[in-house]
Amino acid sequence: MHPELARRMERAPLHKFAGLEKHSTELISSGRDVIRLDIGSPDQPPAPHILDALTQSANTPGHHGYPGYFGTPALRQAVVDYYARRFNVTLDVKTEVLPLIGSKEGIYNLAFAYLDAGDVALCPNLGYPTYMAGALLAGAEVYALEMRPEHDWTPDLDSIPADVLQRAKILWLNYPNNPTGATASIEFFAHAIDFARRHNLLLAHDNPYCEITFDGYVAPSLLQVPGAGEVAIEFNSFSKTYNMGGWRLGMVVGNAQSIGSLSRLKTNVDSGIFRAIQDAGVAALTGDQEWLSERNELYAVRRDIVVNGLRQAGFTVDRPRATIYVWARIPATGLTSEQFCARLLDEALVSIAPGSIFGVQGEQYVRISLGQATRRIEEAIQRVIHWNTLA
Ligand SMILES: Cc1ncc(COP(=O)(O)O)c(C=O)c1O
Repeated sequence: MHPELARRMERAPLHKFAGLEKHSTELISSGRDVIRLDIGSPDQPPAPHILDALTQSANTPGHHGYPGYFGTPALRQAVVDYYARRFNVTLDVKTEVLPLIGSKEGIYNLAFAYLDAGDVALCPNLGYPTYMAGALLAGAEVYALEMRPEHDWTPDLDSIPADVLQRAKILWLNYPNNPTGATASIEFFAHAIDFARRHNLLLAHDNPYCEITFDGYVAPSLLQVPGAGEVAIEFNSFSKTYNMGGWRLGMVVGNAQSIGSLSRLKTNVDSGIFRAIQDAGVAALTGDQEWLSERNELYAVRRDIVVNGLRQAGFTVDRPRATIYVWARIPATGLTSEQFCARLLDEALVSIAPGSIFGVQGEQYVRISLGQATRRIEEAIQRVIHWNTLA
């Protein structure tokens, strides 16, 4: 006997990435040499000064108690200084910044701060799955924003039906985009802000890839648009920028009222972020940033190996100028993208993410992560080319 699960669990299947991981891990533990290019986890460690700050702080006896709910003043200030330096955006350190236990935590909790049954979250159809999961688990509805290659993978906000807009409270956007690698212009952001203002929406922009850019491209913050802070917040993360995915550190900045509501909710849910991780976050933001461009150059080399190799194998693929992903249309095989990836994993021992797990418009696409050693990426692409010739 076992108690029945809450009805909301019907809306919470195993996260698609957890499913992918399970199958790869089973193959690996049976001795197969699987190359995993599915999950967007940087393969390299953070810079030494970040690791030093972590160990030094962890070795301080007073740093092991509950760390407080709202982040250390030093971390909040470091985030404010980063936004000023990098984007020329002014934030109030007391009300417009909140450190998070990874941005996924804040993204999920935002839904619980704003959405009830009958409310709607506007979520990119191709997007990070937690925007949708948060809304559904909060009992709300999701309206999927269509994203198409001919519109550079940006949604047409003006096509959202009026009755949906009436019930909508949150509009999610994410550029540079996971999974497509697409970027958006400041003009698009300005239009989205105007749209959010006209329809009384909280615009939540997710910007964890803003420092992973190539070929001279510099990604903006949505908060650069004048007046953005009246209607918008921006999530950001240390995971990709500083290779700190496992450390769980992120932040949300912008509209003070929303940040106040999210932090109020979070005081009921978590008890803050380990002090040593926050101190390392300060070191990351205030220390040397030179290593990031070297790291990005390495990602660009990997990107080119993947793009060129996949083209040779018959995929259709653009060369992204940001993110750690290559988004590619598979050759016509009659297989769904999920079937294609399952066969590639079983037969060529290369694990990549089917585009359909990011939304229905991802069908016939796959996402390849650049977070693996270059020689492993090279080998994986050779396997794909060889497999694709045989298939
Ligand atoms: C678009 C996007 N948002 C948020 C996250 C979560 O990042 P974090 O590690 O800060 O929780 C990811 C991670 O892959 C992501 O791709």
